[in-house]
Amino acid sequence: MIIAVDGPAASGKGTIAKALARHYGLPHLDTGLLYRAVGVSVMRAGGDPGDAEDALHGCAFDPALLADAVLKTESAGRAASLVSAHPQVREALLERQRAFAGQPGGAVLDGRDIGTVIAPQAEAKLFVTASSGIRAQRRFRELESMGGGVPFDAVMADILARDERDTARSAAPLRQAEDADLLDTSDLSIDAAVQRAIALVEARK
Ligand code: C5P
Repeated sequence: MIIAVDGPAASGKGTIAKALARHYGLPHLDTGLLYRAVGVSVMRAGGDPGDAEDALHGCAFDPALLADAVLKTESAGRAASLVSAHPQVREALLERQRAFAGQPGGAVLDGRDIGTVIAPQAEAKLFVTASSGIRAQRRFRELESMGGGVPFDAVMADILARDERDTARSAAPLRQAEDADLLDTSDLSIDAAVQRAIALVEARK
């Protein structure tokens, strides 16, 4: 079984995808890490993540980067959001994601375009969302636990800018697949959101 989990930044999709993978004993791929690795690799080379050619070079990133904590930072997220708008970058990362989805036992993938582009054949598709205010609050708390220093207004502005870039781009924009189930986590605890996700997947099996 392939489970596709898509949604905007800080919606809870990563937590839900991980919990689903554990529940069903499936391998999990956080596809955002791939774009983050491209973004970081471009910045380390002194390139511009907004430049298509620089971004394409970043696709040849060192695989060890995928396990580096630097990928969790806000600047990596911002660079990821910029490189991911280039169709050439999306194309360069496509096969790797499709191969992961195509494993014999199935897989869980989370990102922005899993249900629409990477694995449109997925049996279960969740579109996980939450209000922008709630998502900014979650991200703010997460950053605080990592040392903080970023004002709430800046976190909110970054969430809104990321939403705008992810939904407005022409290459694989963030949108709910027609056959995806919507899961709004605004008023749900993590546990409640995971239980709801499992129930939605069960109904599609
Ligand atoms: O999910 P995460 O915040 O790690 O993703 C970082 C950025 O990578 C997103 O803002 C988005 O622009 C991009 N991304 C994407 N397609 C994916 C996963 C992430 O465009 N499948």
